[in-house]
Order: sequence, then C-alpha cells, then structure tokens
Amino acid sequence: MSDRIVPTKPHISRRAHVASFDHYQRLYRESVDDPSGFWRRQAERIDWFHPFERACEQDFDRAEVAWYLGGKLNAAFNCIDRHLVERGEQNAIVWVGDEPGTYRQITFRELHDRVGRLANVLRRHGVQKGDRVCIYLPMIPEAVYAMLACARIGAVHSVVFAGFSAESLKNRIEDADCRVVLTANEGLRGGKTIPLKQTVDQAIEDLPVRTVLVARRTDAAVPMRAGRDLWLADEMERQRAYCPVQWQDSEDPLFVLYTSGSTGKPKGQLHTTGGYLVYAGYTHQLVFDWHPGDVHFCAADIGWVTGHSYVVYGPLANGATTVLFESTPVYPDASRYWQVCDDVQAAIFYTAPTALRALLRFGDEPVKKYRRDSIRVLGSVGEPINPEVWQWYHDVVGEGRCAVVDTWWQTETGGILISALPGATPCKPGSATFPLPGVRPVLVDEHGEVLTGDGVSGNLCLAGSWPGQARTIWNDHERFRQTYFTTYPGLYFTGDGCRRDEDGYYWITGRVDDVLNVAGHRLGTAEIESALVAHEFCAEAAVVGFPHDVKGTGIQAYVIPGKAADGVPPEEIEAVLKQQVRKAIGPIATPDRIQIVPGLPKTRSGKIMRRILRKIGEANYQDLGDISTLAEPHVVELIVQGHKAAR
Ligand code: WT7
Repeated sequence: MSDRIVPTKPHISRRAHVASFDHYQRLYRESVDDPSGFWRRQAERIDWFHPFERACEQDFDRAEVAWYLGGKLNAAFNCIDRHLVERGEQNAIVWVGDEPGTYRQITFRELHDRVGRLANVLRRHGVQKGDRVCIYLPMIPEAVYAMLACARIGAVHSVVFAGFSAESLKNRIEDADCRVVLTANEGLRGGKTIPLKQTVDQAIEDLPVRTVLVARRTDAAVPMRAGRDLWLADEMERQRAYCPVQWQDSEDPLFVLYTSGSTGKPKGQLHTTGGYLVYAGYTHQLVFDWHPGDVHFCAADIGWVTGHSYVVYGPLANGATTVLFESTPVYPDASRYWQVCDDVQAAIFYTAPTALRALLRFGDEPVKKYRRDSIRVLGSVGEPINPEVWQWYHDVVGEGRCAVVDTWWQTETGGILISALPGATPCKPGSATFPLPGVRPVLVDEHGEVLTGDGVSGNLCLAGSWPGQARTIWNDHERFRQTYFTTYPGLYFTGDGCRRDEDGYYWITGRVDDVLNVAGHRLGTAEIESALVAHEFCAEAAVVGFPHDVKGTGIQAYVIPGKAADGVPPEEIEAVLKQQVRKAIGPIATPDRIQIVPGLPKTRSGKIMRRILRKIGEANYQDLGDISTLAEPHVVELIVQGHKAAR
C-alpha cells in the first residue's frame, strides 16, 4: 500500500472551516471530552421551533438511541423556508437533464412553491403525519419536491431506487405499508427510457395502494387506472402553494431507506428528524468545506443514502445550491461529469470509485477537454478507493489543486463518519484518514477484544452514538439489535474490517464477509483488486474466495482487461496479472484463477455483487439468486459460460 503523504494545500487551508491538523485535533478532543456540549453546539446550525432538552440518550444493549429530546423542528422548513429571506432568489437546485445541455434552475422561492403544492396534493389524498409514502422517481426535481413535501407534513418517505425491479419495489412498498406512490411515466438515463409506471403497475397489483401520482418525464403515453392514477402536474396545479409546516418531534421518523443485506429481505433503515438533519448539515459543511455560494455536485442517485444526505438534506439545510444529475458518467461520452462541473461551476464534486475507475479507462483526454477550475474539493464514497485511482483523481481531475476526501460511512450511519477534512488532513491515498469530531471508532479482534494503539487491524465498531445513526429497522427492532449491537456488546458493529496504521490513519479493508482467509492469512479482496487495477492490463477486477483443497480458500479474480491489453493473449494477461499481485502484496495473495470477463455484475449503484461471483467461483451456477436488479444482468451468463469453459 502506498504510504505517501499528500500534504494539505495552503490555498484551501486558508479559508477552510477546519484550517489545520492542529485545529482538527483540538475539535476532536473537545468532542470526546464533552460530547453533549459538542453536539449541542452543532444543533445550533439548524432552526428549532421548540428547543430540545437533553442532547442524547443511548442504550446500545437495547439498541435504543435518541437525540435532541424534547426539541421540535421541521426538516423542510430548515431546507427551504428559513433560507427565503436571505437566499430566496438563489438557486436551490440545478437540475441536469439526461441530454447534454439540458439545465433547469430552481430557486429557493420556487422550491418553496413546488414543495408546498406537492405537500397539499399529498394531504388532499389523505396522507397524514406518520404515513409512509413511496417515491419511485428518476432524478428529476419532482423527486426532491416529493421528499421535502413528505417532510413538510410529517409523512415518512421511502425512496426506492428507480432501477429496482417490480418485485423489489413491491417488497418495499409492502414492508413499509405505503398507500401512496409517486412515479413517472418513464425515466430517461443515458439516452434510454425506463418504464417506471409500468413497473409500479406490476408491483402494486395485489397491494392496497390507493393513489399513484405520475410525473411526466417523456411524451410516452401510459395506462392510467381511473380512481387511482393521477398526473402529478395537474394535481399540483390545482393546489395552493402555501402549506403549513407540521412541527415534528426530534425523534419523529423522517424517512425509511432499504438496504440489501447479504441474506434475508432488505432492511428498512429508519432515520429520524432532529439528529439526522443536524448530522447531514454538520458533515456536509465540514467534509466538503462548503461555503455560502459554493455549488455542490454530488452525482449519486436519490435512491441511495448518499443522495438523501448529500444531494438533498445536507446541502439544502445549509442553504447550498445542489446539483441533481439525471445522466451517467459516460453519456454521451466519458467527459460528461467534467462538462457539467464547468457548466454549473461546481466547487465540490462527489462520486464513487467505481465511476472513477470506469472513467480512468478512457484516459486523461476526456477530463482535459474541460477546465474544472471551479472545483475545490473532490469526494469519493461507497467502497475503498484504490491508491492509484485516488492519485488519478487528485493529479488529473484535480490537477493537484483540489483536496480529495475519501468518505467512509453507511446507510445506517446517516452521514459521513470517517474522512479527511479539506485543508486540515494530510492524506494517504487509499485511507479514509480520521474520524470526524464526535465519532469514536474502535477496532475489535475476533475474540471481541478492543485493540488499542496504532498499527492494528480488526473489525470496525463505533463506541457511542452520533446524531445521524439509524434508530431501528422498520418493523423489526430485534433484527436491528441483533445485526448491529450483539456481535460486540456495548458497541455498534459496522460489518467492515479496518486497519489503523502506525500513524493512526484508518484504512477500510471492506466488508468482513469479503475478507478471505487464504492458508491462514487474512486478505482483503479490495487489496487484491487494488493490486490488479494498478496494472494497465486490468481496468476493473473483482476478487472472491472459493473452496480450495489445500489453502481452505483460494482466490478467484474476475478481470475486465484494460485498453493496454488489447490483442494480448488471455494466458499472457493472466500470467502478467498474477505476477503483478505477487509483486504488490506477496505470493500468498496470488490469484489461483483469473477469469477474463466482459463486465462485472453490479447493482445499478455500482456495487459489485460478490455474492454472485462467489457462487460462480464455486461452480454453483444454479443458485445465483435474484439478478434482476443488476445494471447488466446479461453479463452473469457470459461469466458463467467463461467459467465453465475454463474448467
Ligand atoms: C458500505 C456501506 C455510504 C454511502 C454509500 C454506501 C462501504 C462506503 C466507503 C469508503 C471504504 C466504504 C463500506 C460500508 N464503504 N464508503 N469511503 N471506503 N468502504 O452505503 O450501501 O450502506 O454501504 O460501503 O463497506 O460498510 P451502503
């Protein structure tokens, strides 16, 4: 691993909220010496209708956590109304449509109008405080209006990523018992249409959904069932723009968001109002070093927690202009992100390593076509970022000028927990660096012993709560307790492995269920993948374990060749890459098998479905589970064929 230190940049430190590493350490110390005082001060960043009494109550044995007790507030009021006096005419949202050059600006004043109308539509259709509303929309402004409209009237939104199948959608609507669904006639992404309304029709066939509100994204006609389906625009037109705010208790639910576990049905993570909003605002300001006037461009979909916290709630709570991006990183070509950054003059850009790796394959030219000189902070999220990719992001995209922040967090955490701070944290490429003030990571070994000191590896836990923490799993508190609080009593267990190096830097090594034990040695699949992609013959790699007679677990790598491997015989690519891993990590990490593949099974959010690759690696082709939610389901068949042929 690269242990090179990339120092902070003076021009960023000069104006940063946290201006030096000393400053960070001082804040951190304050936060652990007096957590309650620290989090009280953070809560001042939002407007409370009624002040809270206690900052926090927590009981990790019972998995019960509450923040800002007794306080009353409204998330939509904080994201819109309170900005109207100072920033009514400032853009709240810059919508970037799928077709290049399609932009729409929505001011805070207009946002107030749209959200008020949509909130009144929901009320008109019987939605009351506490009711769940399903949002199955593409990345169009109506999606944000819908989230904030729910928040305004105290309804609980459940956004379902518009790439999910009818069956996944059905399960989620059913689990949360949503009676109202918002969707669009069609979605549009990368020039392709997505039949959203049709999917909703299938999903709710046997469900007691009474109202489907349909946004019009394309000209396509769709069947509308009388008495149930209504055009959203018509309904909004009919309503008044003013909708009174429902003051919520701090611990009233704000939203449910489903995350797939490795087993069982998806878990509806429940986030509540006060703590979540404070935490989203706090982390958005600190981690991206957001200042008034900065345009914030997070490329994530609102179907994921990143979209909730860093497209919608964090930026808008702070009064930022947030970019809503409908397209893909490669439509119409690999320079799309950078074109958008120039067009909207983004100061902050936030995406996932998988997107960066995909772009890296196209080389530097598409990046250099645009200026990118508005960007100050580049963020990464979702998986460990390979040091080489980090370096490319820093050197090529950021021209060595921008701060790069690798942000570690989870759907369950509501916001970023471990990350560098621009202007304060000297970085080691590939390390998420240090916990934010207020966050106490703990590493635990397999016997449950807490590992103290530096230069240790273990399972990543958190000691003590933070305001953004999920409060429960919808309808299943016992599963919540079991999953997160029983493995290591008294601690929240993240499911991730982690190393704290000699200098105290945190390196997330990936989910512990992806850790391989090869001949008694523990290896992170991410580590091997990182080694593979460091070679120009490898554009992307996914590594899984398979049962091995001698070693217990053998290493299987699935590799998408890089451009440099064009015309190179497969045997040679394999040999070169095996050698590469031996060289980068050591002989024990050498893949036993390398299979060249045309693509990898990824969720539409870009996460590689290792579960499927593990099954194929075991030659267990029958039992691959549900692959309908993959971005490209057909690659699975191609990988199976390749695997069979190789054996
Ligand atoms: C898991 C959470 C957080 C929003 C997107 C994913 C992995 C996330 C990083 C990072 C290494 C990371 C972890 C975590 N992860 N960020 N910067 N470095 N790993 O949310 O779907 O809830 O997934 O993503 O394994 O547990 P999620």
